[in-house]
Amino acid sequence: MNKFGPFLDVGLAATTPYPLNIKVESADGVWVTCQGGRKLFDAISGIGVSNFGHGNVDIVEALHTQIDLNLHTMVYGEFLQKSTLEAGKLLTSFLPENLDTVYFVNSGAEAIEGALKLAKRITGRKGMLGCIGGYHGNTHGALSVSSNEERKAPFLPLLPDVSFIKFNCLDSITSIDTNIACVVVETVQGDAGVVIPTQAWLTALHKQCKTVGAMLILDEIQCGMGRCGAPFAFTEFNIIPDILCLGKALGGGMPIGAFVTSRERMALLSHSPSLGHITTFGGNPVATAGSGAALTLLRGIDWKAIERRGSEWEKKLKAHPAVKNMRRKGYFFAVEMESEAHVTKAIMKGLEVGVLMFWFLSVPHAFRLQPPLTMSDEEAKTGIGLILEALET
Ligand SMILES: Cc1ncc(COP(=O)(O)O)c(C=O)c1O
Repeated sequence: MNKFGPFLDVGLAATTPYPLNIKVESADGVWVTCQGGRKLFDAISGIGVSNFGHGNVDIVEALHTQIDLNLHTMVYGEFLQKSTLEAGKLLTSFLPENLDTVYFVNSGAEAIEGALKLAKRITGRKGMLGCIGGYHGNTHGALSVSSNEERKAPFLPLLPDVSFIKFNCLDSITSIDTNIACVVVETVQGDAGVVIPTQAWLTALHKQCKTVGAMLILDEIQCGMGRCGAPFAFTEFNIIPDILCLGKALGGGMPIGAFVTSRERMALLSHSPSLGHITTFGGNPVATAGSGAALTLLRGIDWKAIERRGSEWEKKLKAHPAVKNMRRKGYFFAVEMESEAHVTKAIMKGLEVGVLMFWFLSVPHAFRLQPPLTMSDEEAKTGIGLILEALET
């Protein structure tokens, strides 16, 4: 592969010196068709975006309907669009009472930015806590509360007053005090390699935030929208965040993010100053049409089937000698191998045999799997067959 692939040569930004450079023709269900007709089983759903399969007919139909009505008429917060209203209602219908008000933005990182600003506004405090292993996006604020130091170093200084606590460590909770505006936590850590919280830690974290008046921000940008075997991961742990951040699969393939809180708290962003948090494209009617369709599909997911197929994949992967360890929640898998080189070899072999697997940013000796929630039994069988073939050296 050429350094930088073709990207810079054709005037497009490159994000890595060695992009996969797969030329896409189309995508349907679990399959991505490349130029020339080669098909890849998408075992990562575009990194947790296509949870309802590529080209899902319900989503595509909702988009067509909205496209015929209008694409954009006005910045968010002035005109009211039916598709935005419906997506907000559908989203909050899954959520507890104190999460009844949605601010739609354009990406996951932007949802985090909005949530950080809102937490400062609610509490009047400056301190922010992230978690070791946490990943929240690449804008300055989101990067500030993410923990990978190597990725932050070239961009310093980031936000001040940010510290980190250990995920799943009860002792670290005492550092949440009355100086803290918010604690930002992925309910299930994605980039750290699908790290699942203990009930005891989440309960204690939630309790301490309540005690000192810090906002608990749960980032479910990747682990929400059904990825972990329930519509939203926090509902399985019997805690309710003060602010919930969403993105990725929320748009059914359209670019979108959202932060959700109570009406009373969200109202703080409407004044003093007025227009203190604004966005041109947030709540875009086409993006929210995708969201409405995705949320409707989320209602219909057969969670028992997800668990059955997920544990079947887990069983088969664990039995493979190349797999050293793995973690899974729903359809979110981190598969550990002996080394980074083994992982890269497996991913490359996957591309040869017809399956798309992918690296984590921060766990070089593991690869991720996050197949569409809508895959059938037959497709699940085909998918795991291809993955196991990729693990053969
Ligand atoms: C947990 C989590 N938070 C935030 C983000 C950032 O989302 P985006 O890339 O849409 O800005 C991501 C993206 O991978 C993520 O996994």
